[in-house]
Amino acid sequence: MISGKAKLAGVIGWPVQHSQSPRLHGYWLDQYGIDGAYIPLPVRPEDFEDAFRALPKLGFSGVNITVPHKHSALELVDVVDPLAQQIGAVNTVAVSENGNLTGYNTDGFGFLENLIHGAPDFSPSAGPAVVLGAGGAARAVVCSLVAAGVTDLRLVNRTRARADALADSVHGPVSVYDFSNIDDALEGANLLVNTTALGMEGNPPLIISLNALPVQALVNDIVYAPLQTELLKAAATRGNPVVDGLGMLLHQARAGFEKWFGIMPDVTDDLRAHILKGMNG
Ligand code: ATR
Repeated sequence: MISGKAKLAGVIGWPVQHSQSPRLHGYWLDQYGIDGAYIPLPVRPEDFEDAFRALPKLGFSGVNITVPHKHSALELVDVVDPLAQQIGAVNTVAVSENGNLTGYNTDGFGFLENLIHGAPDFSPSAGPAVVLGAGGAARAVVCSLVAAGVTDLRLVNRTRARADALADSVHGPVSVYDFSNIDDALEGANLLVNTTALGMEGNPPLIISLNALPVQALVNDIVYAPLQTELLKAAATRGNPVVDGLGMLLHQARAGFEKWFGIMPDVTDDLRAHILKGMNG
């Protein structure tokens, strides 16, 4: 039940009906008995600026921003968190008491928290990390790994120029490898992450040889539909520890929930099951 004093948040996207965020935040609002609401906000690209600027006047505590508005939000916020600036996209916005809009990017936080919770022995600074892909998701992953102290990050992408551009724009120990030299990239690695669209439902699977990857290396796919991608299956079969991608979605949401509703929520098995049910239903 919500009262007239309920705190308000939501997700702005176009389209937005497939977003799991209302289900996710609604679960936490119930769990913690918070007087608040989190609603889907379908907003066309041409209406985004007006709708976004109206949030303080409507009394919102903040919003998540999803496709296709993440770059527009970066331009429109009053204050940009340094990590969001580096990643080049805003996915979480908080409204301050004076009506200022502050933009954050919580994807990197979600990525790291997912690894820490899924593989408690993992340390980002313990050895080389291999990141496949050079799109928006890769940028968040690369920036968060660099911020976490990785000393050797090896970027592999189909289009070499995109990987070079990403490596150049990040101030950190990032080097670029071609897929044809993937064995060199995997040699001695501590972490392998797929951020490409390969393996996602409707796309071809990601098939690479893992022969050169140490068997202790953690393997993570940020694809979560399906949960067990071919990459994760192949890695688990040869004995590598694996972490699936659903946790990144769940953990990135925790940071926004805390900003708007004042409690840092937990990711539990029950929450995972609840979201999986929503995705399949
Ligand atoms: P996102 O924001 O989700 O990261 P994106 O910016 O479109 O999405 O990036 C998609 C990533 O998947 C890119 O690294 C892309 O490689 P290119 O830069 O070469 O396009 C990668 N990708 C998509 N389809 C691919 C395919 N069939 N083979 C290899 N890589 C692919």
